[in-house]
Amino acid sequence: MRDIRAFPVPKGSVALWWLGQNGFIFKSPEGTVAGVDLYLTDSCAALGVPMGVNTSRAVPVLIPPEELDVDLFACTHNHQDHTDPETIRNLRNKDTLAFLGPHPSCDTFRAEGVESGRIIPAWPQCELEFRDLKLRGAFALPTDTTDLCHMGFILQFGQGPKIYITGDTDYTDLLHEAASHTPDMLITCINGGFNNLSFWEAAQLAGAVKPRVAVPCHYDMFPINQCDPHMFEAALKMQCPQVAYHRMSHGRPLLFEAS
Ligand SMILES: [Fe+2]
Repeated sequence: MRDIRAFPVPKGSVALWWLGQNGFIFKSPEGTVAGVDLYLTDSCAALGVPMGVNTSRAVPVLIPPEELDVDLFACTHNHQDHTDPETIRNLRNKDTLAFLGPHPSCDTFRAEGVESGRIIPAWPQCELEFRDLKLRGAFALPTDTTDLCHMGFILQFGQGPKIYITGDTDYTDLLHEAASHTPDMLITCINGGFNNLSFWEAAQLAGAVKPRVAVPCHYDMFPINQCDPHMFEAALKMQCPQVAYHRMSHGRPLLFEAS
């Protein structure tokens, strides 16, 4: 976390770190640090037991909640690998930072003791500003009936590049609407399990949205829910070779510049 806070981000760029699953930390040239879908515990392990599947985390906790130091804690929907009550409960800055997400995630923030004044509700097509971050809500198709309020985010820090992060979503042509916001980078789930985008559908989305770079995620965290990212790389080559593939390493910074 100290490395992230100290990491220099040139004007017109954004730095990002992947912490596993759909969890990313973004840092702006102004020093704003925003977390998306940070799952920093092993709380989902218990969820798989009644189903007889292994949902123990397969990626180490790179930053424990007690050490997380972000300015904004944003969630795309209220499934536990995206809005994790145990992570939120143990955040060291829970009493000061801002929380953002669709209403079911806001309910979880409140249940974990966050006052309403620090909760920012979000929804598809909303346009919000937080310091130098412009956040637009993107459409996402729910993957089951336990949470019908999925969304994606299109993030832009200052005049830097635009990043579209899908969150968990089933495939639909309605996702193509994100193309109208001309994202430079697509961060997409590829695992195909539990009705999420498969690697093939994620590449189809990349072909429609036409980012410069596509980054796979949500294929690494649970033994029951994994996918080889090279399948996505191959699908991109076949469906939209103009979109560059970039596989991130957990915990390593990626500096991404505007075109
Ligand atoms: Fe998920």
